[in-house]
Amino acid sequence: MTLLGRSIVSIDDLSNEEINDIFDLADALLEKGIRSARNLGQGRVLATLFFEPSTRTRLSFEAAMARLGGQSISAWDAQATSLAKGESLADTVRVVSKYSDAIVLRHGWDGSAQLAAEYSEVPVINAGDGAHEHPTQTLCDLYTLRKRHKTLRGLKVALCGDLEKGRTIHSLAFALARFKANVFFVPGNGKEIPDYMRRRLERDYSARIRRVRAGILSALFGKSEDDEIGNQVDAIYMTPTEPNQLSLITQEGTTLRDSETHIELTISGTEIKALYVTRLQKERSVEGEEEDEEGKYPKITKEVLRIPEFRDISILHPLPRVDEISPEVDKDARGAYFEQAGYGIPIRMALLIRILGLGYRDADEVLRVPYTRQAHGKIVEPEMGIQCANRSCISRREPSFARRRYEVVDGDALKLRCLYCDFEASPSWFGVLKSRKYYPIQFLHKLKPSLENIVFFPSTAAAVKAGFTKGQANLGSRKAASQNKAEALIQ
Ligand code: NCD
Repeated sequence: MTLLGRSIVSIDDLSNEEINDIFDLADALLEKGIRSARNLGQGRVLATLFFEPSTRTRLSFEAAMARLGGQSISAWDAQATSLAKGESLADTVRVVSKYSDAIVLRHGWDGSAQLAAEYSEVPVINAGDGAHEHPTQTLCDLYTLRKRHKTLRGLKVALCGDLEKGRTIHSLAFALARFKANVFFVPGNGKEIPDYMRRRLERDYSARIRRVRAGILSALFGKSEDDEIGNQVDAIYMTPTEPNQLSLITQEGTTLRDSETHIELTISGTEIKALYVTRLQKERSVEGEEEDEEGKYPKITKEVLRIPEFRDISILHPLPRVDEISPEVDKDARGAYFEQAGYGIPIRMALLIRILGLGYRDADEVLRVPYTRQAHGKIVEPEMGIQCANRSCISRREPSFARRRYEVVDGDALKLRCLYCDFEASPSWFGVLKSRKYYPIQFLHKLKPSLENIVFFPSTAAAVKAGFTKGQANLGSRKAASQNKAEALIQ
């Protein structure tokens, strides 16, 4: 499959081969000089719609298009577009796609890029959708890591800071899992990776995840690993599931201790090759909730650089930094963040070349491959019932344009993964459309209705409101009868 005409909404939309191909093309552009590509995009128009602040992403996309000989049209203030008059994002994109060959979108709602890809007549590239994903930043991040460390396989990378709302972290974590890197998640106070991400990393990417003690990484909080308190700092360690993983860890000098329920290990220094730091995403939090207390958020200071085990690391940051990296680090060769921002040009040029087919297609032809989000499990598209659990999801913000689409994740408890924002909801009830009866979710496996024939409800009140009445599940066993009785009591 080629990238021609395809939208890039999630890092999942690019295979490892396609990512490597973009990197090879970026290498070639740097080698030959980026001016060598100056005629490839003549006559092409890129629309950049940036409804949240941006410096690097918008300007590097526009510079990349200019370097290819194409042009950009840009809207970077929602107040200056018809969105301010109440126009939907879906309509905005439908119109802009008539004026351009591709759209680059940044928007504050999770899943907005996907909605745009569904309505656009040209490919859409996600330049950050709320707290969800930022796949092209991931390309710059991986490219920098590959340049500095040659390979991603087995590379030990610490992702630090706002892991909950940092969209660059989300896309990068999935990509690192796919390239079989080892990741330490080192959150600022309360800013851990969301549970739905953790489950997906384990379920869809076969990653193995354990809670560990931060050990040497306590230094990022101004603490010593020997100090009792310092060593209480928690991290999460993610490894690709491969044989001999445990023996690898002990060989490399970490301390391993078996406890009854889980294995604890302490991170030692020599293994870590890269520290990727992010800023607290204050704009995505309830006002006043986010106080950056001293010693609770990971930071790179000149003291951290003095630690002998960090001699050969590289320090990355998607930027903008606030105070996570002290300016004293800038002079140090280990700081890779400005280089990383610079790679935005060859990487985004390479991506545009592939998506627009520059250099090998008729310049007038606009191609768009219809967008579908990847999912491993069964998909349901209920017309009514349960909503996405995430208030910032585009499916809640533009419900008349977004389709309700969920992947059924059938584990210990059934969950519905929203295919716009990835949040998972746990419905307690389901209703059968034909009979208009509703049942407790535990009965789904027994009744086995076809997925097209059911809707999910968060509560009985929601089911009743939708016109459903309580069903009697005659499951033919004593256990089911007692379950039925118990359900009756609950109500
Ligand atoms: C990031 C973003 O917008 O998500 N910036 C970027 O694109 N390089 C990171 C951030 O804003 O913290």
